[in-house]
Amino acid sequence: GVNLEGSLPVPSVQELVRERQPDALPPRYVRDDVAPADHLPESSQGLPCIDLEKLTDPSSRSTELRNLHSACHQWGLFLLVNHQVSDEGMGVMQEKVRGFFELPYHEKQKSAQRPGSLEGYGQAFVTSHEQKLDWNDMIFLKCLPSHARNLDLWPQNPPEFRIALENYSEDLRKVAVAVVKYIGMALGIHEGELELLMNSFREGRYEVRMNCYPQCPEPERAMGLSPHSDNSGITMLMECGDMPGLQVLSRDGRWVTVPPIPGSIVVNLGQIMEVYSNGTYRAPDHRAVVNKEKERVSTVTFCYPSPSLAVGPSPQLLTATGLAPLYQTLSHSEYLHRFYNRKLDDAVPFYRY
Ligand code: SIN
Ligand code: FE2
Repeated sequence: GVNLEGSLPVPSVQELVRERQPDALPPRYVRDDVAPADHLPESSQGLPCIDLEKLTDPSSRSTELRNLHSACHQWGLFLLVNHQVSDEGMGVMQEKVRGFFELPYHEKQKSAQRPGSLEGYGQAFVTSHEQKLDWNDMIFLKCLPSHARNLDLWPQNPPEFRIALENYSEDLRKVAVAVVKYIGMALGIHEGELELLMNSFREGRYEVRMNCYPQCPEPERAMGLSPHSDNSGITMLMECGDMPGLQVLSRDGRWVTVPPIPGSIVVNLGQIMEVYSNGTYRAPDHRAVVNKEKERVSTVTFCYPSPSLAVGPSPQLLTATGLAPLYQTLSHSEYLHRFYNRKLDDAVPFYRY
């Protein structure tokens, strides 16, 4: 599991803002290395948009599969529309997440992370007093399979938060299985192996991280969430408002803002799918920036295949392409173990040969 040895408590950013209303950034949040984004968030700036209905419809499928292939190859990220989650389902979840962060601190603290665990309400851990802090509060909860839930950490407030999260995670599991199916097809995977891939996401692990990025006095010197790529299979992000913040690194090294498009879900590939595709698709680096104007809230669902699926390049893909595997094949638990014990400055990711 996660190595939390020596982790130090981090203050709530929402509380810091509420109590002190700072006009300058407290020193621990100041960074001197925030690369500015290249583009304004107004347009979709060429980020791909994928229509799930077009993938489902046999008459448009092959064209949309080509779009999906190029989206996963070029960006490893796309906006997903017509994904079958109702506006109401999305709206209810957005309202509950915003409602949670609006609660008084002592109420949120009922869901506070317990010592040694990342699950619950709090912040990402740091291990030294010098380490820079991200301008973000979060609540992180395991949702599926249902026996993995730690209900003692699930908020009782706002009312119906729990049922909303239950329904939302089940809705997103359906979307994830469909998205993974078409990603597999875009890669040329078929029959038994495609079934196996889909089943592993049907029986997979779904963890939801709800983020709150308060208004920030000096947004260009702070980070909401430091650059990283995800260790998931895929990750699905829902904006809970109209403030942009998510940025993805393009292949040519530019930070590009992902526009908040109402009703869409942002899908990004995690390392497990990059490995599965033998590097044809990418788990892109991404980050969250903050702003002065308005608090931003987002809901991020990490989707993992079940542990029965080894983490490695697709056997069908290697056979079909005749290419050498660029990545090792590891058991799911070995993969996670190496991830959590990796050195952050390793030049070559641990899962690459
Ligand atoms: C966000 O955009 O709020 C978070 C992105 C991430 O989870 O990496
Ligand atoms: Fe992420």
